[in-house]
Amino acid sequence: MTAPKTHLSLAENQIHLWRFNLETPPSDWQAKGRFLLSDDENERAAKFKRGGDDYINTRIFMRRILAQYTDTPPQALIFDRNPYGKPFLRQSDIQFNLSHSRQWAVLAVGLNCDLGIDVESTSDRRSILNIAQHYFHPNEIADLEKMSDKAEQQDYFFRLWTLKESFVKGLGTGISTGLDKMSFSFDHHQKITANFSPDLPLKTPNAWQFFQYQLHEASVKNWCAVAVRADFRAEVLWM
Ligand SMILES: CC(C)(COP(=O)(O)OP(=O)(O)OC[C@H]1O[C@@H](n2cnc3c(N)ncnc32)[C@H](O)[C@@H]1OP(=O)(O)O)[C@@H](O)C(=O)NCCC(=O)NCCS
Repeated sequence: MTAPKTHLSLAENQIHLWRFNLETPPSDWQAKGRFLLSDDENERAAKFKRGGDDYINTRIFMRRILAQYTDTPPQALIFDRNPYGKPFLRQSDIQFNLSHSRQWAVLAVGLNCDLGIDVESTSDRRSILNIAQHYFHPNEIADLEKMSDKAEQQDYFFRLWTLKESFVKGLGTGISTGLDKMSFSFDHHQKITANFSPDLPLKTPNAWQFFQYQLHEASVKNWCAVAVRADFRAEVLWM
């Protein structure tokens, strides 16, 4: 009997998004998938006092999905990291980026582009205005300060936060880029506008495209943002 065909193909302009609910993994997820992890991943898993299961479940999820795009067994995938820790696949054109909140692991996959993804739960109790005042762009702080409704302000904060993180993850330089170096706003149709500081080393600022989604589960809302730098207009699909 031949093995089932598992290949997933990406059109040149497509970005595929995958999500995995970390709160309700299939009961045999680790029993069937634990062997897929590398020695490095097993070492890292062993260091978690709490959250080790989420890490292991996420790695199984990521390996299984990426394997289908690369026609490689999941356990044979080899990852490298850039100097800021951004992982990439060795010897592959497939680009990906991963994010996890308490409940969700999300994975973006594309070709010939730079990709960043971020997911955050809006129930996270942080002193949001304080964080924004320290790290966000002045225009964004002003937009937040105008909001008298705390719930609305909290929601808006996470919209901005996920967009910013998706961008710095797309760049690959992470949060050290400075979250005040870019600002986001929305028009009445929720169209996203991004502005970048001239001191960011962006060769083609207009090539950056942003997408944002809500992930709901019971009463908890999560915002998810995706940043794509590409020479084409990206078509983003949830798989
Ligand atoms: C990347 C970063 C923004 C992630 O923030 P976060 O919201 O806490 O975490 P998320 O769940 O969204 O993303 C974590 C995943 O992003 C990926 N990632 C790590 N570094 C990344 C980077 N520089 N760019 C893009 N993605 C990155 C990894 O897949 C990571 O998951 P893993 O640790 O399980 O492999 C933050 O950790 C950061 O700024 N890192 C850079 C650190 C740095 O500058 N290091 C330099 C010396 S090594």
